[in-house]
Amino acid sequence: MKFKNKVVVVAGGTSGISLATALSFANEGAKVAVLSRSQDKVDLAVAALIEVAGEALGFSADVRDIDALHNVMASVAESWGSIDVLVSGAAGNFASPAADLSGNGFKTVIDIDLLGCFNVMRAAYPHLTKPGAAILNIGAPQSWLPTPMQIHVCAAKAGIDQVTRTAAMEWGADGIRVNAIAPGPIADTEGMRRLAPTPAAEAVWTKSVPLGRYGTKEEISKVIQWLCSDEAAYISGAIIPVDGGWSLGGSSNMTMALTAK
Ligand code: NAP
Ligand code: COA
Repeated sequence: MKFKNKVVVVAGGTSGISLATALSFANEGAKVAVLSRSQDKVDLAVAALIEVAGEALGFSADVRDIDALHNVMASVAESWGSIDVLVSGAAGNFASPAADLSGNGFKTVIDIDLLGCFNVMRAAYPHLTKPGAAILNIGAPQSWLPTPMQIHVCAAKAGIDQVTRTAAMEWGADGIRVNAIAPGPIADTEGMRRLAPTPAAEAVWTKSVPLGRYGTKEEISKVIQWLCSDEAAYISGAIIPVDGGWSLGGSSNMTMALTAK
């Protein structure tokens, strides 16, 4: 019960890595709130969280809508008090060659991933526990590895790294830590269903990871939990790869994986 009675908000916490993270905090005694666009997904996530922790909050909100996020964060604080842990994991991804991508396609991913990450942090800020809160943004190795078919995601995730570092500098004075992780390919996620849609493509990805396998959602959520715990009290402004060594292979690995049929 490492997070007993701590208040945790997970943006995008209704599926995939972020839902696994929300559940892992609930398993450690936290009061967890999740938000995403789909009311159905929110309801299912809240039901799963209540089964683990007895209580949970869920909100249908789009991270592109700062006013909606101000309302979500104020509701959480009104119900449970200040927010101890904020995880920002909402994202959109699809593979597209730059020459085929419309301006609105590019903007859509920037708006969800980058503007959304800022909006989540900005709306939470007045309600964060000062000192003591931890923020964890979910980035990706595309932030430093140029990647074919991912020009929108590369730009958005690079922005998230700088938002993370800059907020760590400004909000360190409040006793707030801000970090990001960059997961490699994670099994059984929407992200990998989109980037490795065939068994052949999946095999290319797997081969390009030094550890020879995809990671699991639980492996990611454990690192997130550790980074948001007192055990990581002196880590702030860090972008930590959690990828089985995958990003060491550089852009050529990315190119092979993303262009595999
Ligand atoms: P996922 O299951 O699709 O999770 C994305 C979540 O964000 C969903 O709950 C979705 O719910 C929500 N969301 C999407 N757009 C939103 C919006 N505009 N406003 C609010 N919520 C929104 O994806 P995942 O594969 O687990 O990825 C989770 C995170 O890990 C992402 O940040 C991704 O970039 C990162 N990542 C994943 C991998 C991987 O291998 N999967 C690798 C590297 C990084 P709604 O549809 O209800 O909005
Ligand atoms: N290839 C190229 N362009 C695409 C595309 C694709 N596969 N999918 C969407 N787009 C473009 C659309 O054509 C549109 O541009 P246009 O107006 O010039 O035609 C623009 O992106 C916005 O599409 P829209 O469907 O209106 O966006 P949305 O806000 O409803 O959904 C997405 C956002 C597109 C990112 C959607 O895939 C999504 O909701 N994803 C969330 C889940 C996810 O991606 N999980 C993985 C996380 S790593």
